[in-house]
Amino acid sequence: MISVEGLTRTYGAFTAVDDVSFTCQPGRVTGFLGPNGAGKTTTMRVMVGLTPPTHGRVTIGGHLYRDIPNPGRHVGVLLDASAQHAGRTGREILTIGARTMGLPASRVDEMLALVSLDDKEAGRRLRNYSLGMKQRLGIAHALLGDPSVLILDEPANGLDPAGIRWMRGLLKGYAERGGTVLLSSHLLHEVEIIADEMILIGRGRIVAQGDKKTLLAGERASTLVTSLDNRALADALVARRVEVTPAGDGLRAECEAVEVGRAALEAGVVLTDLRTGSAGLEDLFLQLTSDTQRDAVAPAPATEGHQA
Ligand SMILES: Nc1ncnc2c1ncn2[C@@H]1O[C@H](COP(=O)(O)OP(=O)(O)OP(=O)(O)O)[C@@H](O)[C@H]1O
Ligand SMILES: [Mg+2]
Repeated sequence: MISVEGLTRTYGAFTAVDDVSFTCQPGRVTGFLGPNGAGKTTTMRVMVGLTPPTHGRVTIGGHLYRDIPNPGRHVGVLLDASAQHAGRTGREILTIGARTMGLPASRVDEMLALVSLDDKEAGRRLRNYSLGMKQRLGIAHALLGDPSVLILDEPANGLDPAGIRWMRGLLKGYAERGGTVLLSSHLLHEVEIIADEMILIGRGRIVAQGDKKTLLAGERASTLVTSLDNRALADALVARRVEVTPAGDGLRAECEAVEVGRAALEAGVVLTDLRTGSAGLEDLFLQLTSDTQRDAVAPAPATEGHQA
């Protein structure tokens, strides 16, 4: 388990991470999401002792990272895939890691096979690696010591779609076997698919956390509807105190679909399309991590309906 307790990191007058607390549980993939500059990397660097905290602390399995003997056997870390000696080959980098951790050389081949780097690629120097190859090597390096905790900063960066899918499967399987995974991203969709838990960070502060369902629970229902008489339908919705705005060929109604159905039935309007208009996690994410308030929804419009 990773436990972040009241973590603050300042640089001069600037607060990069502001009183952040959360935990990552074994058997779960925790997604650490936030826009550029939110404080994800800083938090992860504190986790593994690369950046000292200004206040608070992070423990992994109850210990500070620096107090863990042979940490690579317990905590796999990928922060910056380029942060390796550029003149070494992929195989050399993994071999040095394996020796440092007291692992058999066979482990290197296992890891190379796991991340699909072939012999030729493993023999190439890091400076000649593509971004995705570096990322694969970084993942191999993180997994080398068969750790029970993984801390990965933007692991999907540079991976092609097949690579992203592969990594997703890898991390899910790893968590299913009881591992603790923390991965950061500024891309919501990526994390949305893989993470069991999500921590949303904006400007150094946690703005929301929980599983996807919990995060979305507070979101207002919204329905997109198109009908043969949008004007009549808008009037019927407004009469029911539903906020309505034009959207494409139809309307966006700030209510559940069933409410739109009732209004249409009452007004005798034929619906041609009805679907949820909730923007989902992406909107929530942007809303939570932006400083500005969302614009108020405009009052009911006079719409140009499709006339029968
Ligand atoms: N050594 C440093 N000195 C001064 N400011 C720093 C330092 N390290 C980080 N920061 C600042 O702290 C803030 C958080 O940076 P951090 O790298 O943690 O963001 P991030 O969430 O990882 O962003 P990204 O998605 O772009 O990787 C940024 O404003 C950054 O400029
Ligand atoms: Mg970062």
